[in-house]
This record gives sequence, C-alpha cells and structure tokens, in this order.
Amino acid sequence: MERKEFLSKISGGLAFTCVACMMAACSKDENTGTGNNTGGGGNTGGGGTGNTLLTINLTTQLLAVNDFVSDQGIIVVRKASGNAVSSFVAFVNACPHQGVAVTFRKGSNDFYCSAHGSTFSISGAVTVSPATSGLSARTVEISGTTLTVK
Ligand code: FES
Repeated sequence: MERKEFLSKISGGLAFTCVACMMAACSKDENTGTGNNTGGGGNTGGGGTGNTLLTINLTTQLLAVNDFVSDQGIIVVRKASGNAVSSFVAFVNACPHQGVAVTFRKGSNDFYCSAHGSTFSISGAVTVSPATSGLSARTVEISGTTLTVK
C-alpha cells in the first residue's frame, strides 16, 4: 500500500470516528439537561369549575348578616360576618316543587316559596312541603371583595 492510499484510508476512518464521537457527545448533552424542568408552569385553570352565574361586590352588597341578593336565577345569603366562603350560601332560586322563585325571609332565617308555601332551611333543606327536595346549592368563591357564584 502506498502512503497516499494509506493516509486516505486512515483519514476516512478518522472522519467516521470523529463524526460518531460528535454525535455521541451531542446526544449526551441533550440527555443530561435536568436544570430546566420547571414542571407544569402556566397551569392556572380550575379544571372545569363551571361558568360564573353571579358576581357580587362585597363592599356594596351583602354587608350585614341575613342580607341577600336574588339575581340571575340565584339567591345568595350572608349567614355570618366576615368574607369567608363559609359566611355565605348560594342556591338556584327556583323552588324544586314547580319552579317559582323563592325568597329569603330574614325574620325566620329561611327560604319561602309563595306559590304553595314550601319553606327551606338556610342550608337549603325542605322544612315544609309540598316541595320534596331541597334547593339546588351552588359554589361560592371569594377573591378579595368579589364574591362569585358558580
Ligand atoms: S312552586 Fe314552590 S311550593 Fe310549589
């Protein structure tokens, strides 16, 4: 084998070896990255918590215990002081008997349907028939001074 032929074969082999080494090196670099995994950023959704049915500004409404708002088919009552979720209850205001809107009675601290006289406790349970099931509760959420019913 002549020198020229020998060098040609060796350089071709080196080139192949070098390309293989570079690919291996690149491959290793790509697989060692563990510092950039911040894990799930940007997932701020509530996962299907439902639509907003009613929004109430707590600086102007529901200021005192037993204050209530009936709007958009929803009735919300403040049952305790403070702006914790547990200070409020919210229901669909349709009576489960025949769908007439119920009202809140501050004096007896219950819900009343004037159509046929059904009453419901502050927790929405039937206390006087003909209704046979309670009011349909809705979720209350509070952010700052904004109450949202969903
Ligand atoms: S619709 Fe309310 S009691 Fe009948």
